[in-house]
Amino acid sequence: DWTMAAYKDQAIEAIRKQVGDQKVICGLSGGVDSSVAAVLIHEAIGDQLTCVFVDHGLLRLNEAQEVVTMFRDNYNIPLIHADESDLFLGALEGVSDPEVKRKTIGKLFIDVFDKHAKSVGGATFLAQGTLYPDVIESVSFSGGPSVTIKSHHNVGGLPEKMGMKLVEPLRELFKDEVRALGHELGLPASFIGRHPFPGPGLAIRCPGEITRDKLEILRKADAVFIDQIRKHGLYDEIWQAFAAILPVRTVGVMGDGRTYDFALALRAVTSVDGMTADYYPFTHDFLGETATRIINEVQGVNRVVYDVTSKPPGTIEWE
Ligand code: XMP
Repeated sequence: DWTMAAYKDQAIEAIRKQVGDQKVICGLSGGVDSSVAAVLIHEAIGDQLTCVFVDHGLLRLNEAQEVVTMFRDNYNIPLIHADESDLFLGALEGVSDPEVKRKTIGKLFIDVFDKHAKSVGGATFLAQGTLYPDVIESVSFSGGPSVTIKSHHNVGGLPEKMGMKLVEPLRELFKDEVRALGHELGLPASFIGRHPFPGPGLAIRCPGEITRDKLEILRKADAVFIDQIRKHGLYDEIWQAFAAILPVRTVGVMGDGRTYDFALALRAVTSVDGMTADYYPFTHDFLGETATRIINEVQGVNRVVYDVTSKPPGTIEWE
């Protein structure tokens, strides 16, 4: 893609100019955006960049291992794996308001980045894979009055006290353009095609209070759902798919016993940029088979529902 090749060169030039000989740390989430940002910045400034992958205890099954292995095996980019799950889950104890969750997580991310900015010998820049829709959705909606729908933790500048400047080389791009840029940078197709995953992770897929037990159930159920989607060859048709664990238990019957377990919602949508979305029209056979598998394979769930809300009026995530 000629346009993307030109864009890449320009972006690299701009990064060099902005950063000079300073050090940069880049928050890596394992998603496409931050990975493309990291590889692009690494091309621009080499080992002036260190990536920091923060495990906040809100990742999916095996995700931390996969991301760290992928980056260490495929790229020569210095990477710090920060296991901070006790810090994040401790601070989130008893928190159920979605905005308080995001702000709590956002503040801790900054603390962790701050710590590692020092540990690499004084980084003065923080890089993020912020996209154009993140920028717009954080300030207004549908061109209407300025209303915050969700305060995405990764937008909105940095608290003054942190004293770092932001590098956001994807700020003007939409998702499909980031994928094209990733392709241009030689990232593997399987990686470029990964579904987006939000910075606050499973916290916003666990409406109400977050507990380690709920997270455990959610991780297992989510893995079964994604496995089903891959087995049926649907992964690439879907923008994003995940499970959310509902803050309610329902009565069920299994064998000759009564159960009283959590209800789980499945969500899968198609979209071009995440700003609008349609629910994915799975067949009833697929849904029935998936529900049966989840209930049989995941202890603690006895009911599965499918979310058929489009965006708007629903958002993609449940919080
Ligand atoms: P919503 O739920 O707002 O999601 O329709 C649109 C896209 O944004 C992702 N998302 C987030 N990403 N921090 C992020 O980094 C957040 O707080 C956040 N909230 C939503 C969501 O997964 C979807 O791709």
